[in-house]
Amino acid sequence: MAISTFSSLLRYRKWAKSNWLVASLGLLLIVFSLSFFLYLTSDSVPSVDHYHPPITSPPDLVKLKLSSKAKERGAFCLDGSLPGYHFSKGSGSGTKSWLIHLEGGSWCNTIASCSARAMTRLGSSKYFEHEVSFQGVLSSDPSQNPDFFNWNRVKVRYCDGASFSGRPEAELKNETRLFFRGQLIWEAIIDELLSMGMSNAKQGILTGCSAGGLASLIHCDYFRDHLPKDAFVKCVSDGGFFLNVPDVLGNPTMRYFYHDLVKLQGLDKSLDQKCVARTEPFKCMFPQEFVNNIRTPVFLVNAAYDYWQIQHVLVPASTDLDKSWAKCRLNIKECDAEQMKILHGFRSSLMDAIGKFHQNKAGGMFIDSCYSHSQMLKPVMWHSPTSTRIKNKTIAESVGDWYFNRKPVKLIDRPYPCNPYCYNMNFT
Ligand SMILES: *[C@@H]1O[C@H](CO)[C@@H](O)[C@H](O)[C@H]1NC(C)=O
Ligand SMILES: *[C@@H]1O[C@H](CO)[C@@H](O)[C@H](O)[C@H]1NC(C)=O
Repeated sequence: MAISTFSSLLRYRKWAKSNWLVASLGLLLIVFSLSFFLYLTSDSVPSVDHYHPPITSPPDLVKLKLSSKAKERGAFCLDGSLPGYHFSKGSGSGTKSWLIHLEGGSWCNTIASCSARAMTRLGSSKYFEHEVSFQGVLSSDPSQNPDFFNWNRVKVRYCDGASFSGRPEAELKNETRLFFRGQLIWEAIIDELLSMGMSNAKQGILTGCSAGGLASLIHCDYFRDHLPKDAFVKCVSDGGFFLNVPDVLGNPTMRYFYHDLVKLQGLDKSLDQKCVARTEPFKCMFPQEFVNNIRTPVFLVNAAYDYWQIQHVLVPASTDLDKSWAKCRLNIKECDAEQMKILHGFRSSLMDAIGKFHQNKAGGMFIDSCYSHSQMLKPVMWHSPTSTRIKNKTIAESVGDWYFNRKPVKLIDRPYPCNPYCYNMNFT
């Protein structure tokens, strides 16, 4: 079956030369990218498996600041607007400690999807919220964020569509007005934070979720190298370990996606250069290809049944025309035995992909078997009496133990549904 799908794919590619097919393929791509995008931009919190008492601490609202260094450096969002961030100043013992969080929100890999994105908060600061709530690892509440609550905490807004890694050389030389400046945004904002006191940092963490979790791996060593030599620096990627696996029909959906993204936004110069020298640049978007080259200690927080990857990498909507996956894609409890087998296979692919990294002495991991994604920004996943745990440790305790060298942390959950302390998403 895999072979017949592959040959039909080849035929498909040949036929794609005729105009009508290009047009319909384009349309499909737009629909596909839009649905990618809608999932990640939705702010609604789906209901959960089991009851969680409401968190009652007052919301920690932090104001937006547009970057003052961006203009002189030519660092712009997709639409040419200035990028920005939210900054909460450290206090007490945290005055010289800095935690930088890179926002996520998928990617845009076509002119059409980037143009659409340029009219949203993921492509233009015109649509940024003026303040956002700092929760989870960004919270200033010690009961919610025991180790980092009094650090300088920064949420960097994502408006370039390419994991803070696009390059102006790739911009189109015609009237299509799209700015591919993710790398410049990253550099400008780090420069700005250095001038705000980060140049005296004693401790630092670069983190981020989803596309930002990938960015925190791509830029980990840059971050390390721009902080003082004697500073203690590590990186934590949250839901950023995207897998190079085919979808359920055997098509390399994610590879095509990254291939087009790297080409459109000129990412090859921003990716790990050892990797780029060895293989096709788009493959270097997959953390398994470069995580072992990162010199700075790295921690991976990732759900083995990452819902975003299940919905977009393993079972993208385009593969489910007969809707047999419809219920399972929305709620892992609705998956039948055959589908569970495929999801367990996805977990095994993750285990294989992190096999070598698992032996890295300085590295750490928290791989839970929940139907989850980006788990460090919500107290119900990061740290609360009822949040996700492995061996009775919350993600906050695990990251803290690892960061401060209190103990090595390499936690891998048994396969679903063994963990009673899971925060499973339910999108129905
Ligand atoms: C600009 O160039 C790109 C790539 O060469 C092309 O796909 C796009 O349609 C062009 N846009 C316009 C408005 O001509
Ligand atoms: C789990 O950890 C909590 C503290 O976070 C502790 O009160 C509880 O006794 C622990 N449970 C087990 C079974 O070890």
